[in-house]
Amino acid sequence: MGQTTSQSYTRTAVILHWLIAIMIIGQLMGGKIMMWIEPTPFKFELFQLHKSFGFIILGLSILRLIWRLMHEAPSLPEGMKPWEIKAAKATHVGFYALIIGIPLSGWIMVSVSTPKITTKIFKAVKVPDLPLPRTETLETITKTTHEILGALIAVLIIVHVGAALKHYFVNKDGVLARMIPHLKPKA
Ligand code: HEM
Ligand code: HEM
Repeated sequence: MGQTTSQSYTRTAVILHWLIAIMIIGQLMGGKIMMWIEPTPFKFELFQLHKSFGFIILGLSILRLIWRLMHEAPSLPEGMKPWEIKAAKATHVGFYALIIGIPLSGWIMVSVSTPKITTKIFKAVKVPDLPLPRTETLETITKTTHEILGALIAVLIIVHVGAALKHYFVNKDGVLARMIPHLKPKA
């Protein structure tokens, strides 16, 4: 159980993991906070910022998925129960689906919303809306979808971080260390 795998993730995989993780957590908090604010030009700026970071996440996540399909992940330590292995794999697949699916749902949302607001990434790059009909029904459905997917990834993050900490403090294996270079496995 306390075995350390020598195999690790590529540097690219580690950098993408942390860049995307930080930005997703920022988007979850920022997405909620921006909704509480009174309608002001500042609120408008926050929405544009949220959309901008969302598109950055979308791009990085697609790159990350391609990278992942080209590079095998290190094998899990021995001694994990079959259900744990299944849960780990399902969480990772769910994450890939959500880090791509959530920004896509946002893009679809702004494309069907009845107030047509142009999306400009960091006030520089104009993003076209998807060719979809704008109706209030679609707007409601896509807003709810975006919100539910956000809640779903928040749950996955809690499970994922819990599992990572359990590997480190309870199993004392090298799983956390392979996403955190230089971290020494707990003796
Ligand atoms: C990539 C990750 C993203 C995450 C994690 C995320 C998360 C969230 C969250 C948690 C909310 C608050 C939802 C609520 O409480 O109702 C929200 C709202 C919103 N998001 Fe995102 N979002 C992302 C990307 C995007 C993108 C790419 C766009 C658009 C291009 C977008 C557009 C919006 C809009 C317009 C709202 C406000 C919805 C409303 O007025 O009801 N988001 N987002
Ligand atoms: C929004 C936040 C996060 C997302 C979306 C995320 C996503 C992922 C994904 C998709 C993988 C699988 C990598 C692959 O096989 O391609 C992974 C692995 C991993 N993550 Fe995260 N992660 C997040 C936050 C965190 C945090 C905060 C920690 C540390 C406490 C963490 C620790 C790990 C570890 C240790 C692995 C390696 C698991 C293994 O080797 O099987 N992650 N993460």
